[in-house]
Amino acid sequence: MLALSETEKRRFAYGFWRYRENEIAAATEMLSLVRENGIDHLDTADVYGGPGGFGGSERLMGAIRARAPELFKGAVIATKAGVEPGSPYNSSAAYLTAACEASLLRLQIDKIDLFYVHRPDFLTHPAELAETLDGLVASGKVGAIGVSNFTAGQIAALARYMKAPIAVHQLEFSAAHADPLFDGTLDQAMERAIAVAAWSPLAGGRLGETGAPEFSQLRETLCQIGARNGASPIAVALAFLQRHPAPVTPILGTTTPNRLRECLTANALSLSRTDWYAIVETCRGRKMP
Ligand SMILES: NC(=O)c1ccc[n+]([C@@H]2O[C@H](COP(=O)([O-])OP(=O)(O)OC[C@H]3O[C@@H](n4cnc5c(N)ncnc54)[C@H](OP(=O)(O)O)[C@@H]3O)[C@@H](O)[C@H]2O)c1
Repeated sequence: MLALSETEKRRFAYGFWRYRENEIAAATEMLSLVRENGIDHLDTADVYGGPGGFGGSERLMGAIRARAPELFKGAVIATKAGVEPGSPYNSSAAYLTAACEASLLRLQIDKIDLFYVHRPDFLTHPAELAETLDGLVASGKVGAIGVSNFTAGQIAALARYMKAPIAVHQLEFSAAHADPLFDGTLDQAMERAIAVAAWSPLAGGRLGETGAPEFSQLRETLCQIGARNGASPIAVALAFLQRHPAPVTPILGTTTPNRLRECLTANALSLSRTDWYAIVETCRGRKMP
């Protein structure tokens, strides 16, 4: 329903975080490529749009949709709210309800398919948050609820009060950031049948060819596995996420067509157990016990 991973088939999502509001031509070209390649889940947030550009990404998507509605046909639109510049987080009923209305206007749609709480707000009781989110679903303005960057405990607390299911947990997960394997969030997603979307699946590009020095050993491991499998290290890094049984949908963030094509080659790659654990071990800098 949300065009996220189902166990029998692999999927990617595509994220609009890296676009500024005025990048209509480039974003339209990428969106065409994304849709041609069967990616049906489009991710944004109210806060995306570059420095000082709050709302810019949603306005960009709204503008593209107005010009080329066919690019959105059958696609799931996911957005997020709750990061309030200056606060920094606000999940109060008044704030989230107004934020949802504002996102609908910027995206130029009547309903948000998937509405995320972007980050946990320690000052909002989960009972209040649940009432707000259930209210948005009941109003028909939101199709499904997601959370992002929550701990397993925060999700359990919210679920205690929610009527609607928590459909998706969007979390940081990559070959360079394997914490979700150990912090209980992926286990909880499987326990509660919550779909998992992985943000910054290439560590924001730091796993790429011009990546960060602290990941040189990890890139070396990805290159070696890639060489053995006839795949690029980028494909290996993405196949690493897709191999997890939760299952996990990586949200691709590249704005470069050829890089997107390279990312998609991960679909043809199945990592062996040994290779998968070698990535975890390199990431953590120690052998599994
Ligand atoms: N929920 C949250 O808190 C949260 C936080 C961050 C992101 N997100 C979501 O996750 C999406 C993806 O995040 P991300 O952009 O950080 O993803 P990513 O795939 O980890 O990083 C993409 C970045 O890496 C660069 N890159 C360098 N070499 C690359 C290569 N060989 N292949 C692909 N990309 C390469 C890209 O540059 P080029 O564009 O020049 O190719 C781009 O800047 C975002 O759009 C957003 O929707 C959510």
